Amino acid sequence: MNLRIQSFTEYQQQYAKSVESPESFWSGIAEQFDWHKKWDKVLDWNFNDPSINWFSGAQLNITENLLDRHLKDRGDQVAFYWEPNEPSEEAKTITYRELYQEVCKLSNGMRSLGVGKGDRVCIYMPMVLESIVSILACARIGAVHSIVFAGFSATALADRINDAQAKLVITADGLNRGTKRVELKSMVDTALENCASAEHCIVLDCVHSQPAMKPGRDIDYHELIKDQSADCTAEVMNAEDLLFILYTSGSTGKPKGVVHTCGGYMVYTTYSFQNVFQYQEGDVFWCTADIGWITGHSYIVYGPLLSGATSVVFEGIPTYPDCGRFWEVCEKYKVNQFYTAPTAIRALMGEGLEVVNRSDLSSLKVIGSVGEPINEEAWIWYHENIGKKNCPVVDTWWQTETGGIMLSGLGDLSPMNPTHAGYPLPGIQPVLLDAEGKEIEENEVEGYLCVKFPWPSAIRTTYGDHDRCKNTYFSNYPGYYFTGDGAKRDSAGMYRIIGRVDDVINVSGHRFGTAEIEDAINTNEYAIESAVVGYPHDVKGQGIYAYVVVDPAKFEKEDLVKTSLIDSVSESIGRIAKPDKIQLVAGLPKTRSGKIMRRILRKIAEGEIQNFGDTSTLLDPSVVETIVQNAVK
Ligand code: PRX
Repeated sequence: MNLRIQSFTEYQQQYAKSVESPESFWSGIAEQFDWHKKWDKVLDWNFNDPSINWFSGAQLNITENLLDRHLKDRGDQVAFYWEPNEPSEEAKTITYRELYQEVCKLSNGMRSLGVGKGDRVCIYMPMVLESIVSILACARIGAVHSIVFAGFSATALADRINDAQAKLVITADGLNRGTKRVELKSMVDTALENCASAEHCIVLDCVHSQPAMKPGRDIDYHELIKDQSADCTAEVMNAEDLLFILYTSGSTGKPKGVVHTCGGYMVYTTYSFQNVFQYQEGDVFWCTADIGWITGHSYIVYGPLLSGATSVVFEGIPTYPDCGRFWEVCEKYKVNQFYTAPTAIRALMGEGLEVVNRSDLSSLKVIGSVGEPINEEAWIWYHENIGKKNCPVVDTWWQTETGGIMLSGLGDLSPMNPTHAGYPLPGIQPVLLDAEGKEIEENEVEGYLCVKFPWPSAIRTTYGDHDRCKNTYFSNYPGYYFTGDGAKRDSAGMYRIIGRVDDVINVSGHRFGTAEIEDAINTNEYAIESAVVGYPHDVKGQGIYAYVVVDPAKFEKEDLVKTSLIDSVSESIGRIAKPDKIQLVAGLPKTRSGKIMRRILRKIAEGEIQNFGDTSTLLDPSVVETIVQNAVK
């Protein structure tokens, strides 16, 4: 199925058509997939409820589109090259036919455990091929996958299993990331002590650590599949049946389960993959994300497989065994499209060009960026030294909630401008709103980035709490989907993302709510109260600065208290959320009505020690002076 636009003029024509007649535009694309039954209606929606239905009445199974469909012509084509963490360990390849067979075996195994359509399955796995098999096996039998990044703690895992009421967990004994080992199974054991819904746990042997298995609950992955048939009838799904839940952080409360459904997500991930990366038959694509994030879902698993692509899956990290690893892997597999995060680029930039120039990068055609704003310096370094000034940089802006890339150049078709994500993809209607909710027509004026028309892979709901979806995304500006980001548009119509305008911080492309980290800190015995803010960080984009109120008598045990606070965050969320800077304080700057003045705390974290603006509502100005004096540099 070739959905690739081939010129900028064609992009403009498709864009115009997608706005004038979205239904005929998207049905023309959807026609090209395999459906058991076509839709009765292309689109039915309102953003007030909200309710978004694409391809109502249609029936399909997404795995038939990404596996069965390819068997005839590309059964022997490599679907994935798997590159292990240890370069000395053997790499693996899996063809489309082998992937089909592995998925069918696990699907049958899962059905034998009583898992079926609509059941939720939590996947907590390393970056191995069996993780992809697990995802697809869920989709094959109509189970709803909920992948939890294997860097989250047992508590965070338990929260997600409970929220989704997952019936099954799929995990591995452990994983290796760089020189670090994580004992996943023992984390799952701890989590499952508090998860009544989970009846079974499938355990893959990855690091041969032979964990204890709980009789009746735990099943070895290979034992389960060994006698299963390599064919499995796919469950017929309605277009709007759930495909997956993926938890993500917001300004308030615990992470919420973003829901995506089968039909629209299938159509949009395929369309956006082929167009943004200009993927062509025979190319090798590599997205370095983890499958635990939306980028991995859409552009390691679904988009590429639906397109019949060949991709690289990498188990390790960019800095192991040294900072040349990414580039060596690019050379080894002759990668044509490379897709990574600004934080990785910034980390590798600092290591000099020698490690880059060790590898032949001449196969690269398109290089991409995702997850956070890419600063100009990093953009230029990437373009010059990785792309050798020959490859377009696609700066792709999107979100867990959008399911697929929304703003980006399309390979080498579109004009580029460093730090600008660029133009909306066909079907995407972004607007910038001012504080009153009025659409901003002028150029170069910052506004709230919203979307005024549904696209096929839009969030449908937040699992188990539709009001939360409505309140978070569709209430601030009625009639619009609100992204949480601020942006500008230039005179050429290109969008530039400024960053989050809510209490969400983006650390190395990972999203955390400040409230979520504060809650984790507040579980600590020393913490009386806390306030967390983001601050600019050279490599991570944003760092986490935590102001923690503790009894001043404890100040002299500062190191011990800080270690203990970090442990609390690691236990509640995971080490990925640990504060970069912690300041112990006797009090926080509050207004007379008791509200923390975060604006001031943000400024101090940024290194600003004066010009705090209007501080007349501060209850006790001396609190600010003390914090400034002791700020962590
Ligand atoms: O602030 C934007 C930032 O990441 C947020 C979405 O995070 P998440 O749901 O975890 O998905 C990340 C991967 C798609 C957005 O609200 N963001 C993502 N891509 C970009 C970006 N900011 C600037 N430029 C981007 N290209």
